[in-house]
Formats: sequence, C-alpha cells, structure tokens
Amino acid sequence: MAHIKMLIWVCCLALWTSFAFGIGVNWGTQAAQTLHPSTIVQMLKDNKIDKVKLFDSDHWTVKYFANTGIEVMVGIPNNQLGKFASDYDFAKEWVKNNVSTHLYNGGVNIKFVAVGNEPFLKSYNGSFLKSTFPALQNVQKALNAVGLGDKIKATIPQNADVYDSGNGGPSNGNFRSDIRDLMQNICRFFKENNAPFLVNIYPFLSLNENKHFPVEFAFFDGTSKPVKDNGISYTNMFDANLDTLVVSMRKANCAGVKIIVGEIGWPTDGDLYGNVTMAKKFYSGFFKKIATKKGTPLYPGYIEYYLFSLTDENQKSIAPGSFERHWGIFKYDGQPKFPMDITGQGRETMPVGAKNIKYLEKKWCILNKYAQDIGKLPSSVQYACSRSDCTATSYGGSCNKLDANGNISYAFNMYFQMNGQDVESCVFDGMAQIVQTNASIGSCLFPLGLDSAGARIGLDSMINILVGFFLFLALL
Ligand SMILES: *[C@@H]1O[C@H](CO)[C@@H](O)[C@H](O)[C@H]1NC(C)=O
Ligand SMILES: *[C@@H]1O[C@H](CO)[C@@H](O)[C@H](O)[C@H]1NC(C)=O
Ligand SMILES: *[C@@H]1O[C@H](CO)[C@@H](O)[C@H](O)[C@H]1NC(C)=O
Ligand SMILES: *[C@@H]1O[C@H](CO)[C@@H](O)[C@H](O)[C@H]1NC(C)=O
Ligand SMILES: *[C@@H]1O[C@H](CO)[C@@H](O)[C@H](O)[C@H]1NC(C)=O
Repeated sequence: MAHIKMLIWVCCLALWTSFAFGIGVNWGTQAAQTLHPSTIVQMLKDNKIDKVKLFDSDHWTVKYFANTGIEVMVGIPNNQLGKFASDYDFAKEWVKNNVSTHLYNGGVNIKFVAVGNEPFLKSYNGSFLKSTFPALQNVQKALNAVGLGDKIKATIPQNADVYDSGNGGPSNGNFRSDIRDLMQNICRFFKENNAPFLVNIYPFLSLNENKHFPVEFAFFDGTSKPVKDNGISYTNMFDANLDTLVVSMRKANCAGVKIIVGEIGWPTDGDLYGNVTMAKKFYSGFFKKIATKKGTPLYPGYIEYYLFSLTDENQKSIAPGSFERHWGIFKYDGQPKFPMDITGQGRETMPVGAKNIKYLEKKWCILNKYAQDIGKLPSSVQYACSRSDCTATSYGGSCNKLDANGNISYAFNMYFQMNGQDVESCVFDGMAQIVQTNASIGSCLFPLGLDSAGARIGLDSMINILVGFFLFLALL
C-alpha cells in the first residue's frame, strides 16, 4: 500500500512539475524556407520544451502536434479579428474546424487560442481597437458552447505598451490612458473566464529605443543603481515592467488574473546589442531567475513564459530594426547558436539542433570577379536585399565589416538562396556568378538555402512507402 501511495505521489509530482513548470517557445514561420513541423516537434522534445505558441491555426501544421503531449496555443491573425467580432457563427465554425477537429483521443493538446497578436500596438493606428474585444468574447463563447471552455482559454498576446507608469515607478502603473476602459474590460473578462493575461516583455527593445537606458538594467546580473519605488528596489527591467502590469490590474479590479509572458528573448544579429554574447547573458540570467520560482516583488511564484523565438525568420518585417529577423535561439536551419540551460541550473550546453536538415546544393551566388561597371550595382543590391535578407550587414551585424564587393556578393547570395537557387536569380545583368566554393567571409556566414519543399514531400512519401509496406505484409 505504502508503495502504491509512493508511486502515486511520484507520478503526481512528475505530472505537476511538467504541467506547472513547462517551458514554452513561440514558433513563427515568416521565412523563405521553413522547417517541417515534424522536425520542429522533434526539436522541442529533444530540448524538453513542452509548450508551443503558434501565430495561426494552419491545419497541416497543427496536426503534427497530435499525440506529442506538447501543449499548443493556436492563433488568430489581426486581419481576421473583424470577422470574428461581427459574426458569432463564424467563430463557431472556426472553433469546429480549427480547434475541435484536433481534439480526438490522442489528438492535439490545445490549451489556448491567441486572439490577435499585439493588436493595440501604436503603429497599427487603432485599426483593431473596435474588433479585438468582441472577437475575444465570441471565441470564448464559441469554446464554451461546445463544452471546451474549461480546458481551452481565449486570450490576447499584448505588447507591454498597453500599460505604463507615467513618470513614476511600477507603483504608478496603469493601463494606457487612450485604451484604459477597453483594457480594464478585457482584463475583467479574463478574470470571469479564468483566462490568463499574456504580455510580451522585451528589455532589448527598451535598450534599443532609448540611448539612456542603463544597459545592466536589461539583464539579470544586478546593478549598481537599482530603481527604488515604494519601498521596493528594482534591479532589472523585467521585474519593473511586470509589476507595472500587476499595479495596472489592481486598479482595474482584475487582480489575481494569471500573467503569462507571451514573448521574451534577445536577438543575436543586426544590432549593436544584438549578438550572441548579449543573448547568452540575457537568457542565462532569465533562466536562473525563473528557476528560483521567486517571481517579481509584486508577482511572486513561478512565471510561465514563451521564449521568442524558436528559429530565425528571414522574412519578418524589419520596420522595428534589422534585429527582427534574428530572434531565434536556433538559426534559420534549426542549428543552435549558443549554449544554455533552460532549467536554470547553470549547466549550459548546446541545445539539440534540428535533425536531417536538407540544404540546397553547395552553390553560392557572388559578384562576378570580371564584372565591369560596378557603379550600376547599387540598384541591383537594393533589389536583391529588398526581396531577401541582408540584415546581417547592417550596423552592429555579423556581416557589417564586409568591403563593398563583399556587400554585393552577400546580397546576391541571399537572393539566390531564398529563391531556391534558381539559376535565373543569379544573373544581375551578368554581374553575378555561381560558385561551388564556400563564399563565407571570416565570421560572416553566406548561408545555403533549405530544401524545405523536399522535406515536406520527403516525409509524406516516407509515410506512403510505410503504408505500402504494411499493405504488402498484409497481402502476404
Ligand atoms: C479555420 O476555420 C475557418 C472557418 O471554418 C476556415 O475558413 C479556415 O480555413 C480554417 N483554417 C484556418 C487556418 O483559419
Ligand atoms: C499608421 O499611420 C502612419 C502615419 O499616418 C502611416 O505611415 C502608417 O502606414 C499607418 N499604419 C497602419 C498599419 O495603418
Ligand atoms: C556584443 O555587443 C556588446 C554591446 O554592444 C559588445 O560590447 C560586444 O563586443 C559584442 N560582442 C560580440 C562578440 O560582438
Ligand atoms: C556594406 O553594407 C552595409 C549595410 O548597408 C553598410 O553599412 C556598409 O557601409 C557597406 N560597406 C561598404 C564598404 O560599402
Ligand atoms: C562555409 O563556411 C562557414 C565559415 O567557415 C561555415 O560556418 C559553414 O558551415 C560553411 N558552409 C558549408 C556549406 O560548408
């Protein structure tokens, strides 16, 4: 009996730790060639990451998370919020086709629906102010209607500027004045539905946007100048930011709503502070902090989070900066960038990279060394960069030290690789040539494209072969 009790204990403890302290990542797919979902599933398992946040609900992608135990957050893009807001039947259909359909025995462990993504960013000029809350209500109502409301919660990933602290510290926090009523209503809706408040917190952006931001305040290693607020001493921006939200929530009468950090991370290229050294320092401090389960001064306990992001995305908008395409803890090809210990024990090792990645052939497109009239090239370079990704060559980036010819070759190669090494994409008025020797220059990597279409076909035909094989056995 004692043994059984013991067993139940160990079992429950294991379940409890895995559910309560899971590690989450965002997986965005704005890249020229994305990794196959089955590759992603294996990466998550290999690195003991048990929650994934997606930005849509693409059926083909979501189905690969079936029977993996991985907890999934599916997303509704901002441009669909209008439809969800104005048409409850549409929300019901969506729940049926994009959520319920995955919930068979051994199906996908969907836990959250992210309604929109940072819809109240100031740069959207208020485009989603009217639709977001009604869309949220319709999605939760549709989930409730089919009896999923207890298991699956609708929420909204918010950018951290939906609240601020005026000129004071966190104790002065409140939801942004232009959207205060709206945010307060949304927050109370979460409270009624026992849904979490998702917030994206980026110390890197604070540093990036403000020259006077104290660098050490972005990290977790302490500072000589803590910020004193209402008797509390803040040594890092993360704590101060999260506590500003806690105070804002108290003022909105929705204290007690669970806070989940929807995105947190540090980019590794394309910026003076965006490099592997800084990213490693940030993550190392963050994982250690989370592991203490101390939380923040006003939000004690374990904090759930989703890292941003799993892999680099070479087609993300770079309006905020060149770093936008380099948020991955893994490179574009699923290979790790630097050692880390997600459990926060300080035993840092290289994460396990994606397996069986198929690259395009070992071919690079560079400036033809006999090219005449290089004066004409800036427009070609601009063309190539605008349709591929030259962010590594920007100020502070890993390829910023290339000479003029290196810059041209870099642009040509990125365009060539991101177009699947199509011969037509390495012409540039005869100024370009294809070579078979690695064109990388020093620490500046000239990457090879991925054969992602091949990976997709590869796996499906593999399944066909297996099915064929079993049919063959059955016939025998
Ligand atoms: C989800 O459901 C809607 C409505 O039923 C459908 O039109 C759509 O194709 C589905 N998939 C995604 C990714 O939204
Ligand atoms: C918001 O307004 C600015 C300035 O009027 C404009 O440049 C920008 O394109 C607008 N953005 C959106 C998403 O409408
Ligand atoms: C990373 O960025 C920091 C801050 O700009 C800089 O001091 C450091 O030299 C950089 N490290 C590398 C390896 O580029
Ligand atoms: C190469 O391109 C980068 C990014 O546009 C630029 O900052 C740098 O000055 C260029 N280098 C030369 C030598 O033209
Ligand atoms: C090309 O060289 C770079 C730098 O030495 C290296 O990191 C990369 O793996 C090489 N690429 C291939 C395909 O061999």
